[in-house]
Amino acid sequence: MANTDLNRAGKYISQPSGYKAFIPNPLPPDSSLIMDEEIIRLLSLADQNIGRLDGVCYAVPDTELFIKTIAKMYVRKEAVDSSQIEGTRASLIDELELEAGLPASSGSTDADEIRNYIEAMNYGLKRLEELPLCLRLLREIHEKLLSGVRGHNRSPGQFRKSQNWIGPPGSAINTATYIPPPVPQMNEALDALEKFLHKADSIPVLIKIGLLHAQFEMIHPFLDGNGRIGRLLITLYLCQQKILSQPLLYLSKVLSQSRQEYSGLLSQISKNGDWEQWLKFYLRAVVIAAEDAAAKIKEIVLLRNRHRQLIIDGTQSRAKSALVVLESLFSQPLVSFGKVAELLDVSNQTANNLLNDFVEMGILVEQTGKKRNRVYMYKDYVQMFMN
Ligand SMILES: Nc1ncnc2c1ncn2[C@@H]1O[C@H](COP(=O)(O)OP(=O)(O)O)[C@@H](O)[C@H]1O
Ligand SMILES: [Mg+2]
Repeated sequence: MANTDLNRAGKYISQPSGYKAFIPNPLPPDSSLIMDEEIIRLLSLADQNIGRLDGVCYAVPDTELFIKTIAKMYVRKEAVDSSQIEGTRASLIDELELEAGLPASSGSTDADEIRNYIEAMNYGLKRLEELPLCLRLLREIHEKLLSGVRGHNRSPGQFRKSQNWIGPPGSAINTATYIPPPVPQMNEALDALEKFLHKADSIPVLIKIGLLHAQFEMIHPFLDGNGRIGRLLITLYLCQQKILSQPLLYLSKVLSQSRQEYSGLLSQISKNGDWEQWLKFYLRAVVIAAEDAAAKIKEIVLLRNRHRQLIIDGTQSRAKSALVVLESLFSQPLVSFGKVAELLDVSNQTANNLLNDFVEMGILVEQTGKKRNRVYMYKDYVQMFMN
């Protein structure tokens, strides 16, 4: 519970039934926000790394198309990591299998949550072309995120109409770790959040995103899915502000590696008004994520060059078709001969021969161990996204 009932991030108000809910102050935090040396250093490093990441994208041959292709994989990976913070156990492979119309080889039944996340993200990115980032858009992506069987009793697409709280699974409100504002104050806080979102101010964009994410989590406006929508908000705002030309910067992997610290520092904002420690933690995550994303693109380009060369040397008359298949693997790294036959408009036999070439060259690995309905994976590529 609060050390004091009032701090610069907001105040606690006692509810008739005894618990205290937190009412966050409108953003930005007042002028007492201390942009100390460490924050300035991290902010400049984060900007630098994002600039580099954008630079790497432009340096890639036939940049637009290829970056768009691999961005799909980044989105899948973010969906997996962000959902993992929430407790979803499905992996990237589960998602790839689902997309390929295969049963999950791990037996996981969670992959539809990942699917929803990806759809929510893609929908949001597309919608930004016609609508600025606003509460309505957040509700729309929430509807996508929680669509389907599991989400239907968690009010998809609607802000909550009752009090909720954060705590260990099954915990009651009086043992909650954090209690967000009651509904009327929640609505006021949301309106203020939207105004802040739209305001053209001189706050550095990365700082603004850090403030927005934490504030959104403190408002906790949905019955469920607040963490995931709050992390989608980061991506959508980055894209809207054109910080990156392609959506390639994702924080969830870093956040999930420091899950305790992540929620602990969010708590410290409402408990003590400590915005600074949160901002430092979040900026460090941006620094690492941007560096990782750039390194990965470089690795992928090297892999692509290596495999193109292998194909040119190893498949001779079939090289032209094989290169088309290779390119498709960067967006769909799981493939069957039916898919290849369709892609190239060739017979199943020809597609089969090509896949055998790929297996011999060590590019594809057969997954099922069966004689029929075989599935092949672009393993080196998928592996890059596995940790
Ligand atoms: N003490 C806290 N104060 C504010 N937000 C928190 C706190 N602890 C965790 N969170 C946020 O709440 C999220 C979990 O809320 P929830 O609605 O279950 O979202 P999801 O279903 O997407 O995980 C976490 O991912 C984190 O972002
Ligand atoms: Mg949840």
